[in-house]
Amino acid sequence: MLNVGKIEEGYVLDHIEAGQSLELYKHLGLADMDCTVAMIQNAKSSKMGRKDILKVECGIEELNMDVLAVINHNITVNVVKDGEIVEKKELTLPKQIKNVFKCTNPRCITSIEQELPHIFILADEDKGIYRCKYCEEKVGKGDGSKKKNR
Ligand code: CTP
Ligand code: ZN
Repeated sequence: MLNVGKIEEGYVLDHIEAGQSLELYKHLGLADMDCTVAMIQNAKSSKMGRKDILKVECGIEELNMDVLAVINHNITVNVVKDGEIVEKKELTLPKQIKNVFKCTNPRCITSIEQELPHIFILADEDKGIYRCKYCEEKVGKGDGSKKKNR
């Protein structure tokens, strides 16, 4: 069992669907932030079988929670301060999200009109499904669909 130490301050994003952490890393813009990141992939989990975990050491209030909610609202967001979890955040689904995800439909107007903003709208509140404002395509891979076993 691979062990990664605890963090002092920042976020532990837990219960990420196995295989989703790299996508999260990209959409959260972590490469451009001044923070230390540990990505744990394919960890054993009693609840989920396999899961990913992202540990982000950074000042709190720095992460865009909307991005997390859109990719997968079942992720647990642990907020850590002085080495202790001070909060497990509930992710709330934003009504719409702008210029974070690109529509993948090649026939979508946003693929042709380059200056249009990429806007996704909450289409199904219970399932957390977002669809392109223009063509109704679902958000990238973050549609909650299960990955095949590797
Ligand atoms: N963690 C961390 N640094 C800290 C505190 C916690 O990296 N200073 C990590 C733990 O290693 C664990 C995650 O945060 O991976 C969640 O911790 P905890 O809530 O204690 O675990 P569980 O009770 O298993 O969480 P849950 O009930 O959400 O499944
Ligand atoms: Zn579209």
